[in-house]
Amino acid sequence: MNILIASSIDPDAIAELEKHHTVKCAFDAPPETLITAIQDCESLIFRSGVKITREVLQSSPDLRLIIRAGSGVDNIDLEYVYQNNLELVRIPEPGARAVAEMSFALMLALSRSIFLADRMTKQGHWIKHDIKGYLLAKKILGIVGMGNIGSTVGRMGIDWDMEVIGCVEHPSEERASEYAHKGLRLASFDEVISKSDYISIHVPLKDTTRNLINHDVLNHMKPGVFLINLARGGIVDEEALLNAMIDGGPVRGAALDVHKQEGEGKVSPLVNLPNVILTPHIGAMTIDTQREIGRRIIETVNQYIGRKIELESKAKVA
Ligand code: MLT
Repeated sequence: MNILIASSIDPDAIAELEKHHTVKCAFDAPPETLITAIQDCESLIFRSGVKITREVLQSSPDLRLIIRAGSGVDNIDLEYVYQNNLELVRIPEPGARAVAEMSFALMLALSRSIFLADRMTKQGHWIKHDIKGYLLAKKILGIVGMGNIGSTVGRMGIDWDMEVIGCVEHPSEERASEYAHKGLRLASFDEVISKSDYISIHVPLKDTTRNLINHDVLNHMKPGVFLINLARGGIVDEEALLNAMIDGGPVRGAALDVHKQEGEGKVSPLVNLPNVILTPHIGAMTIDTQREIGRRIIETVNQYIGRKIELESKAKVA
């Protein structure tokens, strides 16, 4: 089968695919390049960082199997996928633990001013008595989007002696009691925003979540809150956050792993704020996670081929 890999994935998975298939790689290529690259491909593998437009998808009449090597589907034309009955397989589970650990790395880095302390110490400045740190223990951790990733963050919060509250798009009694068994409390978006000492965002980017964290929401946050976004760039209004932080609003510190504009040469408007940490969308970038995603890609391709062979042999018999 011809496979187009449009994003960088585990190299061992690529080597394995190359043993049995014709593999083309066009990592992070623009749609114009993908339109040509995909032409005779039956399968497409992609992650964030590329735009899988309608034009890209319709450039291969052979396309049947699309593998999203991760979670988000905000960068593919889903309407085209469903209208044309293309098989779309997401692999969201392996990234959850990596993103959750990264959320804690950022909460700790913000709470203890680790990057400032590192920079100053390396410059010979002993700022021991200027750094005021905060404990995570006994604080309220608010999860915006308590799904697969969000509830993993929540469970880790429990282990750190935090009180965890979280909201979901479709709350129900059943979900509330499921969460309660794990020590997590389902709350409204407003409660999460107004009561939390740490807010970790884990909602997908769609029309209802674009600029969810806007000027009004930022101003309803608890004074001294730390805000962490590992979901998608468009969810936090970066200009509103910048203005809120410059004007001495409630946010004490923010860590953003995802940005409205991502890629080489793109610089966030928040770049000059000392209490902001910026990282390049590395939430799921652990070797372990990417290896597991690679293993699941191979499994998905093999299952697809298996089903195809079975259908072909049934068709011959009929
Ligand atoms: C995801 O949605 O799985 C993450 O953003 C990781 C990625 O694909 O880059």
